[in-house]
Amino acid sequence: MDSRNQRKTTITVHSFDGRSESFKEKRYDIDSGSFTTVLDALIRIKETIDPSLSFRYSCRMGICGSCAMVIDGKPSLACETKISDLNVTGKGIDVRAMQGHPLLKGLVTDFDDFFQKHKEVFPWIIRHNISDKYDDTEAYHQTDKQINKFLPFAECIKCGLCIDACPVANTNKDFMGPQALSQAYRYIADSKDQGRKYRVEALDTLDGAWGCEFSGSCSKVCPKSVDPALAIQLLKVDIAKYRLIEK
Ligand code: FES
Repeated sequence: MDSRNQRKTTITVHSFDGRSESFKEKRYDIDSGSFTTVLDALIRIKETIDPSLSFRYSCRMGICGSCAMVIDGKPSLACETKISDLNVTGKGIDVRAMQGHPLLKGLVTDFDDFFQKHKEVFPWIIRHNISDKYDDTEAYHQTDKQINKFLPFAECIKCGLCIDACPVANTNKDFMGPQALSQAYRYIADSKDQGRKYRVEALDTLDGAWGCEFSGSCSKVCPKSVDPALAIQLLKVDIAKYRLIEK
């Protein structure tokens, strides 16, 4: 860390106590530099001040999606959020767990429901004839145009930030949510896939694609610019076409 740019920063962590099911507000003063991320700060707090602080992380480089939390009111990845970008007035940083997922402990949330819904949209390539997988010349050949149809939606790192930002997912726990719906479209848009029928059957419901009210907040917080809001609108068009024209 460049010592010339160091400054004191107060990190306020709203930590969930799994036993009493309440929140404890804890304040920690740390030195931060120009490139110190919120995750760096949390790791330092855990290593030098409070070993009881609980949070999840792995890659430290915006790939695994584990460090998703709410930082100064915005669902964000802690490893991609620099303290110097937020603490401009020296007011400190506010950190809490995502509220759109069940809370476990500290800043850690439960992803069981998230992955269950992800599984329900069949997030894999479905082929009528599974022996196709041995045919790498025809069945899986794609043009650039075909690849570009699904590639922008294939960058999802499953961090759950889009669910946290979604007003529908936060009020209706049965709603499939922007992550699962956008990933359903990712596979429908893939020319290699032949499983559209199964996904349409699963998502042509009020808690499926039609539950989305197009607030667009999911796309605003997505750290990979996947644009789930766009994917869901394209999914609605695809479902309507399938029901009205193709079936
Ligand atoms: S630790 Fe992997 S995305 Fe932040």
